[in-house]
Amino acid sequence: MLHKGIASMAKNFPHPLPSGWFAVAYADELEAGSVRSVTALDRELVVFRTGDGVAHALDAYCPHLGAHLGVGGEVVGDRIRCPFHAWEFDGCGTCVEVPYGHTPPNARVESWETRERNGLVMVWYHPEGEPPSWEVPEIPEATSPDWSDPQRFEWTVRTQPQEIAENVADSAHFRYVHGTLNVPDTETVFDGPLRHSRNPVSLDTPKGKVDGEVVSSAFGLGLVTVRYKGICETLQVGSVTPIDENTVIIRKSFSQQRVDGANPTGGVAAALIRNVLSQLEQDIPIWEAKIYRERPLLTSGDGPIMPFRRWARQFYPAAEADG
Ligand code: FES
Ligand SMILES: [Fe+2]
Repeated sequence: MLHKGIASMAKNFPHPLPSGWFAVAYADELEAGSVRSVTALDRELVVFRTGDGVAHALDAYCPHLGAHLGVGGEVVGDRIRCPFHAWEFDGCGTCVEVPYGHTPPNARVESWETRERNGLVMVWYHPEGEPPSWEVPEIPEATSPDWSDPQRFEWTVRTQPQEIAENVADSAHFRYVHGTLNVPDTETVFDGPLRHSRNPVSLDTPKGKVDGEVVSSAFGLGLVTVRYKGICETLQVGSVTPIDENTVIIRKSFSQQRVDGANPTGGVAAALIRNVLSQLEQDIPIWEAKIYRERPLLTSGDGPIMPFRRWARQFYPAAEADG
């Protein structure tokens, strides 16, 4: 019997961290003046919100003697103060105050481009340190009073962002993993760092068949919106953040269109969310155990897996440069 050794294990996860925008917190988890330590993107980060409400993300370890700014660090005005010897850093990571001595030249920690949008605090990651080449989109329903407060769910999964994103292109698995009646007939468009898919669905309801649609848009490998239209208007904002090269955090938040100002409470609204969650829980054990086939053996009924992979290559600049 063959046992999975460490070397073959590593091949399950062949990709480096992809470039893009990645969530590090929900915006409402970060009150003014608060500090959080976050492990993401193979690093320790400190995320804080200044007194005037701006969210910042910095590398966590102080350049002085290495204290973790997220463990006992405090916000002072628009700065964060190290818990060890009280050096103070601004939101750009520059040390602006050493209370008992001179400020050494180059006293700084790495700062991360941060965007607070759609209820998420996101940071830009690029393996070669390039600045953002595209922006986090505004998702109007995510902050609209006409939509319900979000219901949130979170998982830590041993996989990579690309494997999760490939799920949408993998048409056949919907039938065999998720038990849909048909292999969905998905129309997919790749557009720079964006991917848009529409998928007509026919829903059985007590009032008969209703034609609906599932519209999903990916913004890189770290953010996706899925809109369920037709029966109970629902928005899913999904984010995938690598903790390291082998592990991700998946966050999903669902909002539903309010009816006469009230949150939808009907069984259908709840059933839709339950169904999406159970689909994810069907995918997780497959993702955690599978390997990545560089050259998969595909058949005619498979979805646009190779176009998806060609699109995904843009998020690995080193692989792009190799051609
Ligand atoms: S380790 Fe941060 S001030 Fe000394
Ligand atoms: Fe799936």
